[in-house]
Amino acid sequence: MAKVKTLFECQACGHQSSKWLGKCPNCGAWDQFLELNSKQIEVLKEINPPRKNFIGAIPITEVEHEKVERFSTGDKELDLVLGGGIVNGSLVLVGGSPGVGKSTLLLKIAGNIAQNNKKVLYVSAEESASQIKLRSDRLQSNSDNLFCSLK
Ligand SMILES: Nc1ncnc2c1ncn2[C@@H]1O[C@H](COP(=O)(O)OP(=O)(O)OP(=O)(O)O)[C@@H](O)[C@H]1O
Ligand SMILES: [Mg+2]
Ligand SMILES: [Zn+2]
Repeated sequence: MAKVKTLFECQACGHQSSKWLGKCPNCGAWDQFLELNSKQIEVLKEINPPRKNFIGAIPITEVEHEKVERFSTGDKELDLVLGGGIVNGSLVLVGGSPGVGKSTLLLKIAGNIAQNNKKVLYVSAEESASQIKLRSDRLQSNSDNLFCSLK
């Protein structure tokens, strides 16, 4: 028959121990350990299942690089600013003074990506589809892969 595990818990800080302790090694309180009953232990297991192979911290020198997939904006300098292109699934916030060229840059890039065989949706809250089209003509950004919202 499996041995029934006993568990004691410090009433002051919640530190747990398999044996009764007079002084809590975590918070230093005296006479705070109470034995949990089997029902309480079951509840604890449900709330906090044991994590396999969990290590709290590792030296940064042992952290391995995750492989991230990137794709080019079609603009070398922007790719450089983004760390080598756009990361799949990421979000980029482009900021700048009024009239500095944000919409122009983004439509040009949307066109580059579309012309590179990826579908792109260009959504604007301030320009109509026809205004976007005018700009796209000027920037030579047209492509069947570039979609804009109807407004
Ligand atoms: N049809 C056009 N022909 C020539 N220049 C234009 C044309 N449309 C816009 N511009 C100029 O290009 C520059 C960049 O405009 P753009 O709309 O890209 O800026 P923006 O940063 O998006 O501005 P906003 O903050 O108002 O959205 C501005 O100086 C603008 O006057
Ligand atoms: Mg704009
Ligand atoms: Zn304690």
